[in-house]
Amino acid sequence: MDIEVAQAGWRDFPVLWSLQKKILREAEHLVATGEERKEPFAYALAKAFLHRKRVHTFLALEGGEMVGYITLVSGKFKKIRDTVYIVVGVRASHRGRGIGTKLLARAEEFARERGMHRMELEVSDKNEYAIRLYERLGYAAEGRRREATKTSGGYNDIIWMGKLLSNGGGRV
Ligand SMILES: CC(C)(COP(=O)(O)OP(=O)(O)OC[C@H]1O[C@@H](n2cnc3c(N)ncnc32)[C@H](O)[C@@H]1OP(=O)(O)O)[C@@H](O)C(=O)NCCC(=O)NCCS
Repeated sequence: MDIEVAQAGWRDFPVLWSLQKKILREAEHLVATGEERKEPFAYALAKAFLHRKRVHTFLALEGGEMVGYITLVSGKFKKIRDTVYIVVGVRASHRGRGIGTKLLARAEEFARERGMHRMELEVSDKNEYAIRLYERLGYAAEGRRREATKTSGGYNDIIWMGKLLSNGGGRV
């Protein structure tokens, strides 16, 4: 079935909220686990409303079902307003089918339309599929938070990755 990418509106918020929880529960390499994200729905909604001018989400839909999302958060202060921090997630059942690529491409298009200069993200050094995907789309590793996360397998690094849109970043 085809994947459609659409910008999330307020009425999508409840389903998006539960999708994010499902993805947290399924993902191995994220900092928080599903059980640790305990903020109530009303709090999450209020936070999203307060930050609505600088937070935008796109959804991946298959036959109307939400299977992935990407959230873009632009900097709060003037000097970092042209920087967009991104968080992306796809249901485990739908990974490896190009949905993450589509979401990242749409996010980049949106950032370019708004004259943004830089996109950035954090990723565990053990999240090999994700790192390869970001590199394929022109993101470069910029630094490491050494042994920042503790897992059952030991400490892992978190890698900062970034892509410059205005000069030399290369379009997706
Ligand atoms: C990272 C993530 C968003 C990628 O989404 P996706 O829809 O699988 O992405 P794509 O299919 O476009 O690309 C994934 C790449 O991994 C490869 N891959 C192969 N098997 C895979 C699998 N089981 N799961 C994920 N990726 C797989 C794909 O072939 C593709 O390779 P390529 O970049 O060489 O073409 C998704 O794996 C995910 O949500 N993971 C859990 C949450 C997470 O880690 N988010 C990122 C935090 S920084």
